[in-house]
Amino acid sequence: MSDSTPTQTVKQLDRYIVGQIDAKRALALALRERERRLKLEEPMRSEIGPKNILLIGPTGVGKTEIVRRLAKLVEAPFLKVEATRFTEVGYVGHDVESIIRDLADSCINQVHQERMSEVQDEAQAAATERLVGYLLKQSGEPSSEEGTDLKTVQQRTRVRRKRTSVARALKNHELEESVVEIEVESDEGFSSMLEFVSGMGSDEVSEQFNEFMSNLSASRQKVKRVPVREARRILTQEEANKLVDFDRVVDDAIGRVEESGVVFIDEIDKLITRGAEYGADVSGEGVQRDLLPIVEGASVATRYGMVKTDHILFVGAGAFTRGRPADLLPELQGRFPLRVEFESLGEDDFVRILTEPDNALVKQYAALMGTEDVSIEFTEDGVREIARMAYTLNEQTENLGARRLYGVMEKVLEEISFDAPQQPGKRWIVDAAYVRERMRRIHTSDEVSRFIL
Ligand SMILES: Nc1ncnc2c1ncn2[C@@H]1O[C@H](COP(=O)(O)OP(=O)(O)O)[C@@H](O)[C@H]1O
Ligand SMILES: [Mg+2]
Repeated sequence: MSDSTPTQTVKQLDRYIVGQIDAKRALALALRERERRLKLEEPMRSEIGPKNILLIGPTGVGKTEIVRRLAKLVEAPFLKVEATRFTEVGYVGHDVESIIRDLADSCINQVHQERMSEVQDEAQAAATERLVGYLLKQSGEPSSEEGTDLKTVQQRTRVRRKRTSVARALKNHELEESVVEIEVESDEGFSSMLEFVSGMGSDEVSEQFNEFMSNLSASRQKVKRVPVREARRILTQEEANKLVDFDRVVDDAIGRVEESGVVFIDEIDKLITRGAEYGADVSGEGVQRDLLPIVEGASVATRYGMVKTDHILFVGAGAFTRGRPADLLPELQGRFPLRVEFESLGEDDFVRILTEPDNALVKQYAALMGTEDVSIEFTEDGVREIARMAYTLNEQTENLGARRLYGVMEKVLEEISFDAPQQPGKRWIVDAAYVRERMRRIHTSDEVSRFIL
């Protein structure tokens, strides 16, 4: 469990997102509070519910981006979904309970991976041991000292020496390409099982899953002829699978989901519908109604058992231009007590977004051109002009927020980018004059419309 303070979290977010300090603080705090809760004893611990948050702001101001970055920072089980993906229970499509099922799946994967890497060294040692055995057997040598015909001391010593020398050759990667015959479980266990169950409805799963598992355990050893480097991978995987207790993986993962899961529901405002806008048969309100118990706290059946949602943190986000948060079902509104308004972005913000974040567009383009041996320098007034153009286009056409910067940048750099391979060593200066020159041609309304990305 990560133990970062709100200050540290905000600082991390600052590396990628300009401004929006209220949102950063609110989210950082919500995460910290969950960690605090976990340090409490019962019954206090159960009593404290999550403080779900609603992020409100126009499009392209960083709502999704903040949460996406946060997801990478927190070690908590995390899932981001689009509200528009769901249909009411009973209709074709994803029902909202699939959020919890997906969260459980991804957490189980994660915990499984953690366990696998914990046992990696041990698994590797066991795999090497087996590999030595296979190689010896293949060369017609008895693979161990317990062989029946090893009567004399000399014979035994010889085998031991042989083992040592094969082990050394393996260690020095001298045998990587030689083909070796190994015996493996005919299925690669857990990973193939996960592939098997993903993409099925949960009813289907439980039945077929049991069948699959019984087949799996009944499956016999299979002989494979593969290069040593491949054999090492397969055997290590198999040994690791033996060392990891899958039941414990499931228990731990479900525990983590219940105690510290975070679900981000993007475009939650799209669930505000009047009449049949949302889709042919489906009403956004119906989806809201389905969502309610999950946000309030319910038990959801997953293929690994019931998952309680009482302490899962929900973060909703939306532009709320056509409807306000108050247009959500009252009970659902009540479940998102914290509201954070995102500020709309101005020209100065655009300048900072273009240049400051670790992944700033100006840095990205410079790096990309660098691969063609073309250097590109943005002057201050050049960046300012790009920001100004983006801002003006937002005002004159549709407001896309910072997303507009992508289109403008692409347009400004189109020619440089296209010609770059022909002009290695060339040095470009992108200043205000250059930006204006490149953008002049888009003033016809037809061209402007191409910018509505
Ligand atoms: N405050 C910001 N700081 C840095 N980049 C931003 C900011 N707001 C938006 N962006 C950029 O614009 C893109 C779209 O933002 P996003 O977060 O998806 O918008 P929305 O608020 O509609 O969810 C992001 O990928 C990011 O590159
Ligand atoms: Mg978004």
